[in-house]
Amino acid sequence: MNVLIIGSGGREHALAWKTAQSPKAETVFVAPGNAGTAAENGKIRNVPVKETDFPALIRFVKEKNIGLTIVGPEVPLCEGIVDAFEAENLRIFGPNKAAAQLEGSKIFCKEILRKGNVPTAVYHTFSRGNDAIDFLNEDRDMPIVVKADGLAAGKGVFVCENRSMAIDAVKRITQNREFGSAGDRIVLEERLIGQEASVLAITDGKTIAVLPPAQDHKAAYDGDTGPNTGGMGAYSPAPVVDEKSLHWIEEYILVPTVHALNSGGTPFKGVLYAGLMMTKQGPKVLEYNVRFGDPECQPLLMRLKTDFIDICEAVIDNRLEEIGPLDWDERSAVCVVMASKGYPGNYEKGFPIRGLDEAAKIPNTKVFHAGTVLAAEHEQNSDGLPLTGGGRVLGVTGLGATVSEAKLAAYTAVKCIRWDGAWCRKDISDKAVP
Ligand code: AMP
Ligand code: GLY
Repeated sequence: MNVLIIGSGGREHALAWKTAQSPKAETVFVAPGNAGTAAENGKIRNVPVKETDFPALIRFVKEKNIGLTIVGPEVPLCEGIVDAFEAENLRIFGPNKAAAQLEGSKIFCKEILRKGNVPTAVYHTFSRGNDAIDFLNEDRDMPIVVKADGLAAGKGVFVCENRSMAIDAVKRITQNREFGSAGDRIVLEERLIGQEASVLAITDGKTIAVLPPAQDHKAAYDGDTGPNTGGMGAYSPAPVVDEKSLHWIEEYILVPTVHALNSGGTPFKGVLYAGLMMTKQGPKVLEYNVRFGDPECQPLLMRLKTDFIDICEAVIDNRLEEIGPLDWDERSAVCVVMASKGYPGNYEKGFPIRGLDEAAKIPNTKVFHAGTVLAAEHEQNSDGLPLTGGGRVLGVTGLGATVSEAKLAAYTAVKCIRWDGAWCRKDISDKAVP
């Protein structure tokens, strides 16, 4: 069967790479993909169509007789790509627009959590900035988190130490309109303390297959310092969530969430990603995403042994229970993100990336591309090398018998790769080693 992957990041490179391993896959198209998916030998091919151009994507799927489309990022999901495909009887893996609200609206998410009695931070919602400021002025000089309701590319959350920071955040969202209409409503919530963990599950709305826990590294610099990013690295399994906690999370967080979505008339199919804070009172939900995390997807798919096409098809046909427990490589996987100088702030693009061939020779590693483009697109003399085209450029991923071995493999490959201004965190996965 022909498959289409939608998106262009490291997550989508990993999805294409994993899907192409299925004996069922003929050609795996990636729209629009990156230099890494373009360079994969064999079954994988890029298609120059934007991830939100639904009519063009639908035309392409019909023309190439594509039997399965897998959506990577949240934006097309929240804009209703699944509804558009289903209206044409096309098979697509992911939640529809109504269910994708779980990520697209933090207030919708909070209401589902309340309905399911799922542990989360205490919160208040506001549709006028001044009401939020009045609320903060009523004796609330304490750590508080201010969030824009809608999608803001991971930037609409402010973890504030005190009242004046919180008021400033409210103004940025509601008066300066830094996130546009995503800031029409805001959430103020209690700040939770603990280690963060990502627990992802695949569900068809009836059966839930929980994936091994993973941990992202959201802060830019070593020791979890510096500004927030899309994620500077990830690893799996993450010992911060042990067997017992994972069962607890399934029973008291994931199952009631899926039930609440069903009973609210917005049944969910696809990847349900719980961003959790492991507090002293137990795990609490910080947010839900409705897709694989990036970079969490890379270590998770390095470890997944079950055929990914089989999983997607079972979800679409509401028969995930037939797949049984998913099969995982026992080894650990660590993904180190290599980034452009200046990220997550402003950065330049277009630097040739050297050393990918040497990195490819390091055993038990895989370099997933994220923000990379083929040189021809930039018409620069770069010896035919791929060029940097984004802030997070590569996700260098290693497997090993222990987390330390996986880390060593990943960083050995990182050392082979260079471009002007390339940098990465040096401590990815250290939290896993006591
Ligand atoms: P979110 O997009 O809601 O996951 O928020 C992004 C990041 O902000 C999270 O990964 C946390 O690091 C932090 N965060 C969000 N909500 C809270 C909270 N209630 N308490 C502490 N940190 C939070
Ligand atoms: N790594 C966090 C995310 O994908 O949202």
